[in-house]
Amino acid sequence: MPESQPYDDRDGKIWFDGKLVDWRDANVHILTHAMHYASSVFEGQRAYGGEIFELTRHSERLHVSAKILGMPMPYSVEEIDAACRQVLEANDLSDAYVRPVAWRGPEQMGVAAQATKTHVAIAAWEWGDYFKNKEQGIRLDISPWRRPAPYTAPVHAKAAGLYMICTMAKHAAADKGYDDALMMDWRGQIAEATGANAFFVADGIIHTPTPDCFLNGITRQTVMALAKKRDIKVIERDIWPEELEGFEQFFLTGSAAEVTPVREAGPWNFEVGEMTLGLMNDYAKLVRGQLSNS
Ligand SMILES: Cc1ncc(COP(=O)(O)O)c(C=O)c1O
Repeated sequence: MPESQPYDDRDGKIWFDGKLVDWRDANVHILTHAMHYASSVFEGQRAYGGEIFELTRHSERLHVSAKILGMPMPYSVEEIDAACRQVLEANDLSDAYVRPVAWRGPEQMGVAAQATKTHVAIAAWEWGDYFKNKEQGIRLDISPWRRPAPYTAPVHAKAAGLYMICTMAKHAAADKGYDDALMMDWRGQIAEATGANAFFVADGIIHTPTPDCFLNGITRQTVMALAKKRDIKVIERDIWPEELEGFEQFFLTGSAAEVTPVREAGPWNFEVGEMTLGLMNDYAKLVRGQLSNS
């Protein structure tokens, strides 16, 4: 399927409120609450060789995100897990990206949404590298948009509303020729990229921002465990932009981005070093069941 093919005009099946429907019939009405008020949460996970990596953790996070937004989930974690597998099978996919989404429906309009029902859909499609030529290291703009404070937004939910600033940051970066953007938090500390967590290397030690106002990514936690296995020290702490000068390596982690080296962030340059490449390789093996994470 060409990447340019619109996402509403493809062949295949989508799991929609409990059953598989034809891809082109997986539609919502324009007066859907989520369309107007961003009352939607979602997930994103990859399947490798037919197995969805950390499937249950993603389904659990979908539940947590919905709970944070006060959206009752009509399906259990086990049912979401089973539905994700069903979607892969129905579309005959083995290496794919899986996108569960839960949203408030058209049962009520206005800011209040108590009468809305939570609807759930799951789609899957083949999706190559999130960043082109990622092995060479990507280039990040420094975004003027900051991650909101925990008291201003549900920062630990994978909530659609939070991605508004990510899209704006990403577009501003693309307009300047960058691959993505590095965002600070409301205090001015380093937070993350628009869809992936940030890690830095200096003197053989990994430093990563404390996830107190952005997602503590599943890939982030996986890569921290992989680093531990390699006896690499990982420090979670507040990181300020002035420190970027002193870091030798920089990489991003995310289910879509996997482990992606960064060679440039604004005025700062980094090497695509051994530690980054080693963890990138470990992650690639782990997700394909060629390395145990215990
Ligand atoms: C904003 C943001 N941060 C971090 C991540 C990484 O999370 P995960 O590793 O769980 O995919 C993602 C991707 O889901 C994201 O969209």
